[in-house]
Amino acid sequence: MRIAIAGGTGTVGRHIVAAARERGHEAVVLARSTGADVITGAGVDDALAGADAVIDASNATTLSATKARAFFETATRTLLAAERRTGVGHHVALSIVGIDAIDAAYYAGKLAQERAVAAGPVPYTIARAAQFHEFAGQLLSAMGGPFALMPKTLMRPVAAREVGEHLVAVAEAQPAGRATDLVGPHDEVLADLARRQLAHDGVRRRVLEVRLPGRYGAGLASGSLRGTGTRLEGRITFDEWLESEDHPH
Ligand SMILES: NC(=O)c1ccc[n+]([C@@H]2O[C@H](COP(=O)([O-])OP(=O)(O)OC[C@H]3O[C@@H](n4cnc5c(N)ncnc54)[C@H](OP(=O)(O)O)[C@@H]3O)[C@@H](O)[C@H]2O)c1
Repeated sequence: MRIAIAGGTGTVGRHIVAAARERGHEAVVLARSTGADVITGAGVDDALAGADAVIDASNATTLSATKARAFFETATRTLLAAERRTGVGHHVALSIVGIDAIDAAYYAGKLAQERAVAAGPVPYTIARAAQFHEFAGQLLSAMGGPFALMPKTLMRPVAAREVGEHLVAVAEAQPAGRATDLVGPHDEVLADLARRQLAHDGVRRRVLEVRLPGRYGAGLASGSLRGTGTRLEGRITFDEWLESEDHPH
């Protein structure tokens, strides 16, 4: 198959590209750095020509609900319109486990993305995954200084590598509307992951856990991000991931 991966240079995107190539597919990367912009539409039709499926793992880092909605709705509209024009038969959107009751901040954008995909003209599968093992590190590097403030977050993290493999399997299958949620092997708490990562890397930095206000903070602390019911579970634990080549030092 020819699979186009929006955000194919990102944290999970590069694992999707590697998994697709490993399974013998042709992988095409859409990112601004490769000349395809899912917001302006520049280069998107060319990148999608001949593709059988698109996996959308593009991302904007923001806690503003307005900005998150604008990014994910626009990116989805751009991709679906180009897929329609170029005859792509399967749109796979990567979303996040357990966000239904957290229609706020960044998650408002992800829920808007899911609605746009479901209302769109292309057969689709929405595949939700839990936070990646890489997530604590993404927050640590976004914050400078001797302290790191981590929102109280109950989660069940999964390796981005396993999310990449899962998404390729989803793209290979028929459009299904929703895929089974993918979570990690253990329940964890974000501040504890950050402390373990800093200790592993030999970095002296104090982690403070803060309970964020409002619906977003309540959602993070509620445990809903761990998912419920039938879930697929990744095998790689956070501590195994810390020791692996996937953990950037
Ligand atoms: N991080 C997590 O723990 C987690 C958990 C579950 C699901 N997810 C979902 O996974 C997806 C990817 O997250 P991530 O953390 O891997 O993202 P990331 O590391 O921030 O990577 C973002 C990717 O999107 C591309 N991108 C950004 N703006 C673009 C644009 N206008 N046009 C084309 N490409 C653009 C970036 O490339 P350029 O900068 O070159 O454009 C990059 O390849 C998101 O939808 C997120 O909600 C994340």
